Amino acid sequence: MSEALCNRIVNKIETVGALPFADFMTMALYEPGLGYYVNGLHKFGHAGDFVTAPEQGSLFAQTLASQFDTLAAELGPDWTLLEIGAGSGVLARDLLMQLRQPPARYLILDRSAALRQVQAEQLEGLPQSLKDRVQWLSAPPQESFSGVILANEVIDALPVSVFELVDAELFERAVSVSEQGFRWTRRAPDKRLAGAVAHLREALPHPLPKNYSSEICLDLPGWMQTVTEPLVRGLALFIDYGYPRTEYYHPQRDSGTLVCHYRHRAHFDPFAWPGLTDISAFVDFSLAAEAGVAAGLELAGFTSQGAFLLALGAHERVTAASGDKERMRLAGELKRLVLPGEMGEKFKVLALSKALEQPVQGLEPGSQLHRL
Ligand SMILES: C[S@@+](CC[C@H](N)C(=O)[O-])C[C@H]1O[C@@H](n2cnc3c(N)ncnc32)[C@H](O)[C@@H]1O
Repeated sequence: MSEALCNRIVNKIETVGALPFADFMTMALYEPGLGYYVNGLHKFGHAGDFVTAPEQGSLFAQTLASQFDTLAAELGPDWTLLEIGAGSGVLARDLLMQLRQPPARYLILDRSAALRQVQAEQLEGLPQSLKDRVQWLSAPPQESFSGVILANEVIDALPVSVFELVDAELFERAVSVSEQGFRWTRRAPDKRLAGAVAHLREALPHPLPKNYSSEICLDLPGWMQTVTEPLVRGLALFIDYGYPRTEYYHPQRDSGTLVCHYRHRAHFDPFAWPGLTDISAFVDFSLAAEAGVAAGLELAGFTSQGAFLLALGAHERVTAASGDKERMRLAGELKRLVLPGEMGEKFKVLALSKALEQPVQGLEPGSQLHRL
């Protein structure tokens, strides 16, 4: 699998020359039939490469469901839930089971046809009345809707460009091939990347060091516009690992945030085992927030996952659980989701809203809006 993908990438490099890193990442993750997210191998949960919040157990979904139920009361019974990048489908299954007022439509937009299949299998055991609400999409819905958009650990999987300053001169990092395998090479940045880096430098309160490298997701503004366009009223939640811009591009973080996952080990070599290893980058939440506002949404809040889940009553759910065994299980899950040394602080929640009358729950007590 990895060899076939490597051959495909090598052919591409031999045809077009060194590949901008975003193109390499796109092939490594999404090359039809071979890329990490589309090759049908197991990725999620304890038997895969990484464990996301919904894969920890049902507490994440239970807590989100309480917020969505409040929103549903404002939106009315015809509300829609659009989940982007649903992975194994476990969050969709748990949300549908937990919501007191399930959405009239649960839309799943996923780039991976193989994962859409996995999700359908995951939802197989749901009651028919819930299953009937689920539809899979390979592009954002054409029709507008009132409801919720939810994307957990999706923005980190959008391909990023890598830029480098060498003695203050800007380069784009690209991928070429040698006898030893893939290797980094430098090329002049194209106009789009040069413009984005110039914009970034204007927006930062500090100068970038003369020798420095980091990433930038050039597609994020366009993606945000496209996926949120159908939302006429409601909330869009983006949960992911990331930083506000000033921290992301902190002078001391001088070699970027690319991170790969292979069988529960984080590593930093995106050229190791293409197709078998996940490649991701932290999210620049300032960029994501600006993109949301440019797309016509209001910035409702920005907080840590830990503060968000606690404000929505995750702890009370644990103490209210019936039976010691269940309480212990949920307590373990709560720790992993909210403790600062686990997922609680590294993961952030960006909330964008449109035409809502009630304030969105869960965002205030630990608001980090001022940091964006
Ligand atoms: C890291 S997984 C997260 C899965 C799940 N949300 C979870 O938390 O377990 C990323 C998911 O996003 C999907 N994805 C990546 N890029 C996407 C895009 N541009 N549009 C829709 N889905 C995308 C992948 O196929 C995969 O299902």
